[in-house]
Amino acid sequence: MSLRRSLTIHKHYGFRSRFLSMLFMGIKHLNYLVPGFFINRRSVILRGNSFAGIHHKTQLKLDHSQIIIENGTLKAGIDYGYYDGGMFDPARDVCRIHLINSTLRIRGDVSLYPGVCIFAQNAEIIIGNGTKINGTTQIIAQEKIEIGEHCNVAQGVIIRDNDGHRISTDGSLPALTCLPVIIGNHCWLGQRSMVLKGVTIHDNVVVAAGAVVTKDIDRDTLVAGVPAKPLPGRVTWED
Ligand SMILES: CC(C)(COP(=O)(O)OP(=O)(O)OC[C@H]1O[C@@H](n2cnc3c(N)ncnc32)[C@H](O)[C@@H]1OP(=O)(O)O)[C@@H](O)C(=O)NCCC(=O)NCCS
Repeated sequence: MSLRRSLTIHKHYGFRSRFLSMLFMGIKHLNYLVPGFFINRRSVILRGNSFAGIHHKTQLKLDHSQIIIENGTLKAGIDYGYYDGGMFDPARDVCRIHLINSTLRIRGDVSLYPGVCIFAQNAEIIIGNGTKINGTTQIIAQEKIEIGEHCNVAQGVIIRDNDGHRISTDGSLPALTCLPVIIGNHCWLGQRSMVLKGVTIHDNVVVAAGAVVTKDIDRDTLVAGVPAKPLPGRVTWED
Protein backbone atom coordinates (compact mmCIF):
# COMPACT_ATOMS: atom_id res chain seq x y z
CA MET A 1 0.00 0.00 0.00
CA SER A 2 1.17 3.49 -0.69
CA LEU A 3 1.12 6.51 1.57
CA ARG A 4 -1.74 7.80 -0.54
CA ARG A 5 -3.77 4.77 0.42
CA SER A 6 -3.14 5.44 4.08
CA LEU A 7 -4.39 8.98 3.63
CA THR A 8 -7.54 7.65 2.08
CA ILE A 9 -8.07 5.35 5.01
CA HIS A 10 -7.75 8.19 7.46
CA LYS A 11 -9.91 10.70 5.72
CA HIS A 12 -12.80 9.72 7.95
CA TYR A 13 -11.00 10.91 11.04
CA GLY A 14 -10.31 14.54 10.28
CA PHE A 15 -7.23 16.60 9.78
CA ARG A 16 -5.38 15.76 12.99
CA SER A 17 -5.50 12.04 12.43
CA ARG A 18 -4.47 12.45 8.84
CA PHE A 19 -1.60 14.70 9.78
CA LEU A 20 -0.39 12.31 12.45
CA SER A 21 -0.74 9.43 10.05
CA MET A 22 1.49 11.17 7.55
CA LEU A 23 4.03 12.06 10.17
CA PHE A 24 3.98 8.78 11.95
CA MET A 25 3.69 6.44 9.03
CA GLY A 26 5.49 8.57 6.50
CA ILE A 27 8.58 9.44 8.45
CA LYS A 28 9.04 6.96 11.22
CA HIS A 29 7.37 3.87 9.87
CA LEU A 30 7.11 4.29 6.16
CA ASN A 31 6.18 0.69 5.59
CA TYR A 32 3.55 0.36 8.25
CA LEU A 33 0.06 1.31 7.33
CA VAL A 34 -3.27 1.00 8.99
CA PRO A 35 -5.37 -1.80 7.53
CA GLY A 36 -8.60 -0.97 5.82
CA PHE A 37 -10.86 -2.15 8.60
CA PHE A 38 -10.11 1.09 10.38
CA ILE A 39 -12.59 2.87 8.23
CA ASN A 40 -15.25 0.90 10.06
CA ARG A 41 -16.23 3.23 12.88
CA ARG A 42 -18.38 0.56 14.46
CA SER A 43 -15.32 -1.57 15.23
CA VAL A 44 -12.66 0.96 16.13
CA ILE A 45 -13.68 4.07 17.99
CA LEU A 46 -11.25 6.96 18.38
CA ARG A 47 -12.29 9.19 21.28
CA GLY A 48 -10.82 12.64 21.89
CA ASN A 49 -7.38 13.14 20.39
CA SER A 50 -6.70 9.55 19.48
CA PHE A 51 -4.73 7.77 16.85
CA ALA A 52 -3.95 4.19 15.86
CA GLY A 53 -0.72 2.95 14.32
CA ILE A 54 -1.09 -0.68 13.39
CA HIS A 55 1.45 -2.78 11.50
CA HIS A 56 -0.19 -3.93 8.32
CA LYS A 57 0.48 -7.59 9.20
CA THR A 58 -1.36 -7.35 12.50
CA GLN A 59 -4.24 -9.81 12.49
CA LEU A 60 -7.43 -8.23 13.73
CA LYS A 61 -10.62 -10.19 14.08
CA LEU A 62 -13.40 -8.20 15.66
CA ASP A 63 -16.59 -10.23 15.95
CA HIS A 64 -19.33 -8.01 17.42
CA SER A 65 -16.51 -6.27 19.25
CA GLN A 66 -14.84 -2.92 19.56
CA ILE A 67 -11.47 -1.38 20.14
CA ILE A 68 -11.97 1.95 21.89
CA ILE A 69 -9.01 4.32 22.04
CA GLU A 70 -9.50 7.15 24.53
CA ASN A 71 -7.26 10.21 24.21
CA GLY A 72 -4.13 8.43 23.11
CA THR A 73 -2.31 6.31 20.59
CA LEU A 74 -2.50 2.58 20.19
CA LYS A 75 0.59 1.17 18.56
CA ALA A 76 0.37 -2.49 17.60
CA GLY A 77 3.20 -4.47 16.06
CA ILE A 78 5.37 -1.51 15.17
CA ASP A 79 7.73 -1.06 18.13
CA TYR A 80 10.64 -3.41 18.09
CA GLY A 81 10.86 -4.36 21.73
CA TYR A 82 13.89 -5.13 23.77
CA TYR A 83 16.37 -2.24 23.58
CA ASP A 84 14.74 -1.27 20.34
CA GLY A 85 16.82 -4.06 18.82
CA GLY A 86 16.30 -7.19 16.80
CA MET A 87 14.47 -9.37 19.31
CA PHE A 88 11.35 -9.29 17.21
CA ASP A 89 10.61 -8.92 13.57
CA PRO A 90 7.32 -7.09 13.03
CA ALA A 91 6.84 -8.87 9.71
CA ARG A 92 7.25 -12.32 11.24
CA ASP A 93 6.18 -11.88 14.86
CA VAL A 94 2.70 -10.85 14.01
CA CYS A 95 0.43 -9.17 16.55
CA ARG A 96 -2.99 -10.78 16.87
CA ILE A 97 -6.09 -9.24 18.37
CA HIS A 98 -9.15 -11.47 18.31
CA LEU A 99 -12.25 -10.19 20.08
CA ILE A 100 -15.62 -11.94 20.24
CA ASN A 101 -18.47 -9.94 21.85
CA SER A 102 -15.77 -8.01 23.64
CA THR A 103 -14.21 -4.61 24.12
CA LEU A 104 -10.54 -3.66 24.15
CA ARG A 105 -10.34 -0.26 25.83
CA ILE A 106 -7.10 1.69 25.39
CA ARG A 107 -6.80 4.60 27.82
CA GLY A 108 -4.04 6.87 26.55
CA ASP A 109 -0.82 5.80 24.86
CA VAL A 110 -0.33 2.03 24.71
CA SER A 111 2.21 -0.09 22.83
CA LEU A 112 1.67 -3.70 21.84
CA TYR A 113 5.02 -4.96 20.58
CA PRO A 114 5.32 -7.50 17.76
CA GLY A 115 3.95 -10.93 18.54
CA VAL A 116 1.51 -9.85 21.25
CA CYS A 117 -1.70 -11.90 21.22
CA ILE A 118 -4.91 -10.62 22.74
CA PHE A 119 -7.94 -12.87 22.84
CA ALA A 120 -11.25 -11.97 24.50
CA GLN A 121 -14.64 -13.61 24.47
CA ASN A 122 -17.59 -11.93 26.20
CA ALA A 123 -15.02 -9.88 28.05
CA GLU A 124 -13.47 -6.49 28.56
CA ILE A 125 -9.77 -5.70 28.46
CA ILE A 126 -8.57 -2.31 29.65
CA ILE A 127 -5.00 -1.07 29.24
CA GLY A 128 -3.87 2.19 30.84
CA ASN A 129 -1.78 5.09 29.61
CA GLY A 130 1.94 4.55 29.17
CA THR A 131 1.77 0.76 29.38
CA LYS A 132 3.98 -1.35 27.14
CA ILE A 133 3.23 -4.97 26.36
CA ASN A 134 6.33 -6.73 25.06
CA GLY A 135 6.58 -9.29 22.30
CA THR A 136 4.83 -12.65 22.41
CA THR A 137 2.87 -11.84 25.56
CA GLN A 138 -0.61 -13.35 25.63
CA ILE A 139 -3.67 -11.77 27.24
CA ILE A 140 -6.61 -14.15 27.37
CA ALA A 141 -9.91 -12.87 28.78
CA GLN A 142 -13.35 -14.32 29.25
CA GLU A 143 -14.46 -11.82 31.87
CA LYS A 144 -12.22 -8.85 32.59
CA ILE A 145 -8.53 -8.02 32.54
CA GLU A 146 -7.42 -4.55 33.52
CA ILE A 147 -3.82 -3.35 33.34
CA GLY A 148 -3.06 0.03 34.89
CA GLU A 149 -0.90 2.93 33.79
CA HIS A 150 2.85 2.90 33.12
CA CYS A 151 3.21 -0.86 33.42
CA ASN A 152 5.92 -2.84 31.71
CA VAL A 153 4.86 -6.30 30.67
CA ALA A 154 7.94 -8.21 29.53
CA GLN A 155 8.29 -10.76 26.78
CA GLY A 156 6.39 -14.03 26.88
CA VAL A 157 4.11 -13.13 29.80
CA ILE A 158 0.71 -14.80 30.09
CA ILE A 159 -2.21 -13.01 31.74
CA ARG A 160 -5.47 -14.94 31.86
CA ASP A 161 -8.71 -14.64 33.79
CA ASN A 162 -9.90 -18.20 33.14
CA ASP A 163 -8.55 -21.72 33.13
CA GLY A 164 -9.67 -22.53 29.61
CA HIS A 165 -11.04 -25.90 30.75
CA ARG A 166 -13.47 -27.02 33.42
CA ILE A 167 -11.69 -28.66 36.31
CA SER A 168 -12.26 -29.97 39.83
CA THR A 169 -10.51 -32.40 42.14
CA ASP A 170 -13.68 -33.95 43.60
CA GLY A 171 -15.05 -35.72 40.55
CA SER A 172 -17.54 -32.99 39.61
CA LEU A 173 -17.27 -30.76 36.58
CA PRO A 174 -18.27 -27.21 37.52
CA ALA A 175 -18.70 -24.40 35.05
CA LEU A 176 -15.60 -22.78 33.63
CA THR A 177 -14.16 -20.44 36.23
CA CYS A 178 -13.60 -16.88 35.04
CA LEU A 179 -12.49 -14.29 37.58
CA PRO A 180 -11.30 -10.77 36.80
CA VAL A 181 -7.60 -9.93 36.83
CA ILE A 182 -6.67 -6.42 37.94
CA ILE A 183 -3.12 -5.09 37.66
CA GLY A 184 -2.41 -1.69 39.21
CA ASN A 185 -0.26 1.20 38.03
CA HIS A 186 3.50 1.06 37.55
CA CYS A 187 3.89 -2.71 37.71
CA TRP A 188 6.61 -4.70 35.99
CA LEU A 189 5.81 -8.26 35.01
CA GLY A 190 9.10 -10.06 34.33
CA GLN A 191 9.79 -12.26 31.38
CA ARG A 192 7.67 -15.42 31.12
CA SER A 193 5.77 -14.69 34.29
CA MET A 194 2.14 -15.69 34.52
CA VAL A 195 -0.85 -14.05 36.17
CA LEU A 196 -3.81 -16.36 36.69
CA LYS A 197 -7.53 -15.85 37.25
CA GLY A 198 -8.91 -13.76 40.08
CA VAL A 199 -5.64 -12.05 40.97
CA THR A 200 -5.37 -8.40 41.96
CA ILE A 201 -1.88 -6.94 41.76
CA HIS A 202 -1.74 -3.57 43.50
CA ASP A 203 0.38 -0.57 42.43
CA ASN A 204 4.15 -0.69 42.05
CA VAL A 205 4.68 -4.43 42.08
CA VAL A 206 7.51 -6.34 40.40
CA VAL A 207 6.85 -9.92 39.37
CA ALA A 208 10.15 -11.76 38.87
CA ALA A 209 10.88 -13.67 35.71
CA GLY A 210 9.07 -16.99 35.51
CA ALA A 211 6.88 -16.36 38.56
CA VAL A 212 3.34 -17.73 38.59
CA VAL A 213 0.98 -15.36 40.40
CA THR A 214 -2.05 -17.10 41.88
CA LYS A 215 -2.87 -14.78 44.80
CA ASP A 216 -3.31 -11.04 45.32
CA ILE A 217 -0.17 -8.96 45.79
CA ASP A 218 0.11 -5.89 48.03
CA ARG A 219 1.54 -2.68 46.64
CA ASP A 220 5.31 -2.01 46.57
CA THR A 221 6.12 -5.72 46.62
CA LEU A 222 8.58 -7.93 44.72
CA VAL A 223 7.30 -11.46 44.22
CA ALA A 224 9.12 -14.46 42.80
CA GLY A 225 8.76 -18.19 42.36
CA VAL A 226 6.08 -20.75 41.64
CA PRO A 227 3.66 -20.01 43.16
CA ALA A 228 4.83 -16.41 43.54
CA LYS A 229 5.69 -15.33 47.09
CA PRO A 230 6.66 -11.88 48.34
CA LEU A 231 10.34 -11.21 48.98
CA PRO A 232 11.23 -8.97 51.91
CA GLY A 233 11.49 -5.19 51.43
CA ARG A 234 9.76 -2.39 49.60
CA VAL A 235 10.42 -2.56 45.89
CA THR A 236 11.38 0.35 43.66
CA TRP A 237 11.99 0.02 39.95
CA GLU A 238 12.52 2.23 36.96
CA ASP A 239 11.22 1.70 33.46
C1 LIG B 1 13.09 -9.78 40.09
C2 LIG B 1 14.51 -9.38 39.76
C3 LIG B 1 14.49 -8.00 39.11
C4 LIG B 1 15.24 -9.34 41.08
O1 LIG B 1 16.56 -8.95 40.87
P1 LIG B 1 17.47 -8.59 42.17
O2 LIG B 1 16.84 -7.46 42.91
O3 LIG B 1 18.86 -8.39 41.66
O4 LIG B 1 17.31 -9.81 43.09
P2 LIG B 1 18.39 -10.93 43.49
O5 LIG B 1 18.99 -11.53 42.26
O6 LIG B 1 19.29 -10.32 44.52
O7 LIG B 1 17.47 -12.01 44.16
C5 LIG B 1 16.85 -11.82 45.40
C6 LIG B 1 16.26 -13.14 45.81
O8 LIG B 1 15.15 -13.42 44.92
C7 LIG B 1 15.38 -14.65 44.25
N1 LIG B 1 14.93 -14.46 42.86
C8 LIG B 1 15.28 -13.45 42.04
N2 LIG B 1 14.65 -13.62 40.86
C9 LIG B 1 13.93 -14.73 40.94
C10 LIG B 1 13.09 -15.41 40.05
N3 LIG B 1 12.87 -14.95 38.83
N4 LIG B 1 12.47 -16.53 40.48
C11 LIG B 1 12.69 -16.99 41.73
N5 LIG B 1 13.49 -16.39 42.62
C12 LIG B 1 14.10 -15.28 42.22
C13 LIG B 1 16.87 -14.87 44.33
O9 LIG B 1 17.19 -16.24 44.23
C14 LIG B 1 17.21 -14.31 45.68
O10 LIG B 1 16.83 -15.25 46.66
P3 LIG B 1 17.72 -15.42 48.00
O11 LIG B 1 17.63 -14.10 48.71
O12 LIG B 1 17.04 -16.54 48.72
O13 LIG B 1 19.11 -15.74 47.54
C15 LIG B 1 15.16 -10.35 38.77
O14 LIG B 1 15.55 -11.55 39.42
C16 LIG B 1 14.23 -10.72 37.64
O15 LIG B 1 13.43 -11.65 37.69
N6 LIG B 1 14.30 -9.92 36.57
C17 LIG B 1 13.36 -10.01 35.47
C18 LIG B 1 14.09 -9.71 34.18
C19 LIG B 1 13.10 -9.58 33.06
O16 LIG B 1 12.15 -10.28 32.95
N7 LIG B 1 13.38 -8.62 32.21
C20 LIG B 1 12.49 -8.31 31.11
C21 LIG B 1 12.76 -6.90 30.65
S1 LIG B 1 11.27 -6.11 30.10
